[in-house]
Amino acid sequence: MKHIKELLKESPEEQIVEVNGWVKTFRSNRFIALNDGSTLHNIQCVVDFENFDEALLKQVATGAALKVKGKLVASQGRGQAVEIQVSELHIHGTADAETYPIQPKKHSMEFLREQAHLRVRTNTFAAIMRVRSALSFAVHQYFRQNGFYYMHAPIITGSDAEGAGEMFRVTTLDLKNPPLTEEGEVDFKEDFFGKETNLTVSGQLEAEAYAMGLGKVYTFGPTFRAENSNTSRHLAEFWMIEPEMAFFDLNDNMDLAEDFIKEVLRYIVEHCAEDLNFLEKRLLDEEKTKPQAERSELSLLDKLKFVIDNQFVRITYTEAIEILKNSKPNKKKKFQYLIEEWGADLQSEHERFLVEKHFKCPVILYDYPAKIKAFYMRLNEDGKTVRAMDILFPGIGEIVGGSQREERLDVLLEKIKTLGIDEKELWWYLDLRKYGTAVHSGFGLGFERLVQFATGMGNIRDVIPFPRTPQNAEF
Ligand code: 4AD
Ligand code: MG
Repeated sequence: MKHIKELLKESPEEQIVEVNGWVKTFRSNRFIALNDGSTLHNIQCVVDFENFDEALLKQVATGAALKVKGKLVASQGRGQAVEIQVSELHIHGTADAETYPIQPKKHSMEFLREQAHLRVRTNTFAAIMRVRSALSFAVHQYFRQNGFYYMHAPIITGSDAEGAGEMFRVTTLDLKNPPLTEEGEVDFKEDFFGKETNLTVSGQLEAEAYAMGLGKVYTFGPTFRAENSNTSRHLAEFWMIEPEMAFFDLNDNMDLAEDFIKEVLRYIVEHCAEDLNFLEKRLLDEEKTKPQAERSELSLLDKLKFVIDNQFVRITYTEAIEILKNSKPNKKKKFQYLIEEWGADLQSEHERFLVEKHFKCPVILYDYPAKIKAFYMRLNEDGKTVRAMDILFPGIGEIVGGSQREERLDVLLEKIKTLGIDEKELWWYLDLRKYGTAVHSGFGLGFERLVQFATGMGNIRDVIPFPRTPQNAEF
């Protein structure tokens, strides 16, 4: 059986066709707009009510699932080239109009989040999820074409070395009555793995091990962070793409990240035109409700093309601090966190100022102070900055975080000692520096932030099927 997407492209020659789908609307007891998820567009199915039982037609309600069979003919009406003259109608399942939440009218995003199991039946969510799927395909395609191997990093991890945030514990212990050590602490030796384990915050450390044998690898999997940050850019469960490359320095890393982002965006501009046009219109309508000053200067597709066609600005953290120190919002004390000295961690208000106001283009910041970055980043000659890089995007802020890794055993040992990290915990990671160590680099890209940028959605909860956020794990 064909999908609606294919039927809409056929030339109507009264051929008999069959199609399944869900009813969007049923007008005048005659016109069914049917959608099967294959495309934004519905196919119009025309029923002659004299040929059908009234009781059967009553079941053709918005939300019902149907199979129709009939002739594909040129449409008499406006708005579509072809339609189906229905000769057979089968109801898979009707939908009660009194209670079906997704009626054909505008629903708020908040309302739809509470109906996450049904929201994909709206045009907006179907479009977002099709773009998400295409982007994810483009990610795999990009890496495959560039000599990378897809590596599955473990989701349950025994190390918290990354320090990327709070972790979710994995345990089979009886929480009401856990085994205790002599000191009265929970005895994790008795736990399933014989030690404390958590859900992973990043597959990087394991990817490094694999890069040092396969050369170029990437992970693309679920990632968990128990940060209590209720923002429009944070999820407790999100998908991260983490390439890791042997023999790449920071410049190679930045080149790859920029090329990768451009290439996957180019893919969806080429393959998801219909959905992106729809999302662009949706965004324009939304923007109209905002004050002039807050409206975006570029439409969604222009924004995507802008990123694809322009070089990202690359500046050091030190240069960024100078710009921020002398910026208007800093001088007028408009920033919530004022930039006073070198070493300050950048907040999202600073990142957004650089990208949206100052450069008006994606920015790669690199060579950050060692103090505000993770232990594994390679120390520069100056002894105080590390070979880190973050990519900042308009409307999103940080979309990528990466670095050249510290490949020198002595420097790494010194670093973890200062940070008070237990050397024993990292024994295998340190082994990678003992046996055949080499310059290597990698980065992590938050997939949902990329989908947010690609679809223009303001809230990260609306670009993942079933969002997990503090106090919210329904479905
Ligand atoms: O900057 P982060 O914490 O970097 C790492 O985890 C490194 N191990 C990556 C690497 O070098 N292999 O996270 C990387 C990206 C961020 O830039 C952001 O896009 C996304 O992951 N991210 C989140 N996305 C959604 N919700 C959250 N809570 C996120 N935390 C990070
Ligand atoms: Mg980061």
